[in-house]
Amino acid sequence: MKPAAVVDEIFRVFRERGHRNYGENVTEQQHALQCATFAQNNGEAPVVVAASLLHDYGHLLHDLGEDIADQGVDARHERIGANRLAAWFSEEVVEPGRLHAASKRYLCWKEAGYYGDLSEASKKSLALQGGPMNDLEAAEFEAGAHYDSAVRVRRYDDQGKIPDLETPDLESFRPLLESLVRPTA
Ligand SMILES: [Fe+2]
Repeated sequence: MKPAAVVDEIFRVFRERGHRNYGENVTEQQHALQCATFAQNNGEAPVVVAASLLHDYGHLLHDLGEDIADQGVDARHERIGANRLAAWFSEEVVEPGRLHAASKRYLCWKEAGYYGDLSEASKKSLALQGGPMNDLEAAEFEAGAHYDSAVRVRRYDDQGKIPDLETPDLESFRPLLESLVRPTA
């Protein structure tokens, strides 16, 4: 697929399902745009900005409805989204999203107070995702190739829950995304 067609497909999914409630008074699309905007404003590399925009893409690919954590269902959305995105983008874009639940479990192990600052929805999904990491899991996570960017994306993920925050629109991220589509996609 040409880069423009890849981005058309991603944006089509956002248009169809991005209005869904993320669970914290923002829609999925607002959440994605806020995460990407925070990353961009923080001077992150384009791959991290794209990873921030797309980390919850898997939320938009299932038909389980809104607030899946509230239903007690772990949709493994990060794996679903990452597998789809891996057809089009490099690991630098895809893996932080695949690891975003792991990053939360890691930060609960790493930082006193991180758990307490999580939203209620995030605490609920943490339990479904296996709870905080133990020492061995944390050491393995830190040894992983995309550990650093995964944790950074997780920080933007945690910030991107501000009702009615104005951000650039999806189209403003098109050039960045198109530039990152793999030549063989
Ligand atoms: Fe998220």
